[in-house]
Order: sequence, then structure tokens, then C-alpha cells
Amino acid sequence: MRMYDLILKKRDGMVFDKEEIDYFVQGYTYGKIPDYQVSALLMAIFFQGLNEDETFFLTQSMAESGEKIDLSDIPGIKVDKHSTGGVGDKTTLVLAPLVASCGIPVAKMSGRGLGHTGGTIDKLESIPGINVDLSIQKFIANVKKIGISISGQTGNLAPADKKFYALRDVTATVDNISLIASSIMSKKIAAGADAFVLDVKTGSGAFLKNIEDSIKLGRLMVDIGSKFNKQTIAIITDMDQPLGYAIGNSLEVEEAINTLKGNGPEDLTNLCMELGACMLLLAEKTENISEAKRVLRKKLENREAYYKFLEMVEYQGGDTEAIEKMQLPKAQIKHEIIADSSGYISKMKADDIGRASMILGAGRQKKNDTIDLAAGVLLNKKVGDKINKGDVIAWIYTNRQDAVLEARDILRKAIHIEEAPSDERPLIFGLIDSKGQYTEY
Ligand code: URA
Repeated sequence: MRMYDLILKKRDGMVFDKEEIDYFVQGYTYGKIPDYQVSALLMAIFFQGLNEDETFFLTQSMAESGEKIDLSDIPGIKVDKHSTGGVGDKTTLVLAPLVASCGIPVAKMSGRGLGHTGGTIDKLESIPGINVDLSIQKFIANVKKIGISISGQTGNLAPADKKFYALRDVTATVDNISLIASSIMSKKIAAGADAFVLDVKTGSGAFLKNIEDSIKLGRLMVDIGSKFNKQTIAIITDMDQPLGYAIGNSLEVEEAINTLKGNGPEDLTNLCMELGACMLLLAEKTENISEAKRVLRKKLENREAYYKFLEMVEYQGGDTEAIEKMQLPKAQIKHEIIADSSGYISKMKADDIGRASMILGAGRQKKNDTIDLAAGVLLNKKVGDKINKGDVIAWIYTNRQDAVLEARDILRKAIHIEEAPSDERPLIFGLIDSKGQYTEY
């Protein structure tokens, strides 16, 4: 087999078989095929697409390119949740202890943020002392003992995806539905859970900006899950404005803690209820969604979900007193963004707000950049809210004086005020069940 022939084949719109896909995945992962040929192949895939079988073979090949985690020692149905990425998306911090407090074993491998989107592992690191780099043995032992563990992905989990993703990132080939689906699902399959709940984001802050593409991505991932005999549900949710009010690592942890105590923002709480209910169903803990939501609400009200979070932090070496007293990293500079007209907030562009937060220090522009855990943006208003001239729309938090003006200008352009209220955008657009059936909410 020759790489040249594979590039030509895809360029001319033909279909790969499993052997051909294994050839280029393994060849690239083990350094036998150069970047320039894989770049050409990715661009051919971007324009010609992959069909469902090719996407499945690609997922399988990447999932098998490295270590696979065996969770079979942990009793019960392990349900993993994954978000396609967004701004202010701290659902894992709430959802993981919430469902763990209902008896679902949570063995969660999470990632770091890149670009304008955040990552759970960076957020958790704002808790003093916490270890998010657990060995596989410790990771599994904690789940067996207390029902929950969140750790960074081991270096050898789907290494093919790591290499392909880095190349896609610099060759403008990230936003292809088949490539996104196989990238996400290869890591999920390698991480060993029995079932998946996928939060597919749609809107300005998501990889896919329109609802049709997001549904296609959700369906494709559900199909891949079922081909691996893993029950998978996807819900399509809004990422046109940030989730909740906080964007930035310690700010988001604080908001997640408040949510676990029952005092969180409505959108974040409702999303956690929806995702959590799907997880309870797949784990066979409840018969239907409304019963599941009732169980989840109780776990917030009686604080069991919050205590589970504290227990997880303690088992991972973190300072629980710092959480109880909310002593998380704080920025030295706090700057107000003031409304220059009255009306209603009509838009809060999530991607731009994420970018402002990154410039303030909360995110990485390049993979090895260090981040400022205290930096970010705290919104005071959300889309649909009434606002008067002179009101605070948001606060900037940073330790970089030189970033304030640039972030302020981005935020001013990202947040639109109009005289009349605009139509409300739903938080949840619909659900794709494990048979691939889409139901609009
Ligand atoms: N997240 C991933 O893990 N992979 C993609 O391709 C896009 C989002």
C-alpha cells in the first residue's frame, strides 16, 4: 500500500476499506508517514467526506492505537459524559459528583482547554493541592472506594487522535463532522465506559455553529457508540452564549460549587438535570426522565452531591477547607464593563467572550502556554435581560494590566444591546436516542 494512492483515492471521492484506514492511522502514529502527506489526506477527507463505515473504522483504528482502560473491576454500569466543548461549560464539575451521589460509578478522564474553550482539568487545578494526574491504579481504586474520580487523560490514550488533532488544528481541517465524531469517540471508547451521554453544543462558541450540523454530529456519534455495543444518547444544547455567568478556571469552580449547593444559575442547573437524567437512565437507576430529575434535585437539596464533590477532592489530595471557605485563586485586577445604552441584551457571542477570557490569561493560545487560574470574565447579565445605561454587564478578572483594554474591546463588541427583547433561544434543542431518533424539545 502507498500513501500516495490513498490520497489520490480520496481526492477522487472513493471509499476506503478498514485495511486502508488502519494503514494511514498506524503509519502516521508510528512516524512512518510524513505530516505533508497526512495533511493532504485530511484536506481530501474534508472535501470528499467519509461515509459511516469509514468513520467507524477510523474511530476503531484510533481507539486501538494506544492503551485502553479496563474498568471492568468497578461494579455497576459506567456511564461517561462528554461535551463537544464550549465557553463557561463547567457541567462535569457539577454532574460528576451529582450522579456519583446517586450511585453511578464515575471514572472520568478529562482534558485541558485549548483556544477559546475551557477544560475540566485546568478548572480543577484551581483547587489548592488537588492531584489531577492520577495513576490508572489510583484512578480506579478511588472509583471503587468512593464512586468517583476525575483525572487527566493518560498520554497513551488514543495517541493517534492526539497526532491527527494537532495536525488538523494547523491545516484548517478541524470542523469536519466525521473527523470530530471519530476523534471524540475514539477517546471515549479507549477510556472504557459502558455507555455515553454526549452534550453536542451548537452556536457561536461551538465547533459547529448551526443546528443541522450539530444534529448530524450527534447522530453519527450515537451510531458509532452503538456499533461498539455501547448505548449512547446525545442532546443538542446551546452554546451561542456562555453557560452560566462565570468564564475562567477558579471563577467556574466557584460557580460549580454554588450549583452543587443548589444556588447555581438556571441554565447550568437545568442542563445538569437533563444530562444527569440521561445518565441515570443509561445506568438503569430510574425508569424515566422525570423520576430521574426528581432524584437528582433531591441530591442537590440535601447536599449529598456537594459532599461527594468534597470527598472526591479529599481523595485526590485537594484542600477541602479552601472549598468550604471559597479560598480559590483571586485576581488582583477587577474591571467593570458598563452598558452604554439601555434596552435588552440580544447577543453574548460565546466565542468572543471565550477569546477575551483567554487574553486575560484564563486560556492557552498555544499548547504549552501557562494559564492564570484566577483570570476570566464574570457576566452580570444574560441574553434576554433588561439593562439600563450605566449598569454593569460584566466584570473582567486578571493579573495582566496590559490585557484589560483588549479584552474590554472584545467584550463590548461581543455583547449586543437592542431596544426590544429578541426571541428566546432554547437551552436544549432536542435529544437523539440510542437508536438515532431525534426528538425536538
Ligand atoms: N473535540 C475533540 O476531542 N475532537 C475534535 O475533533 C473536536 C472536539
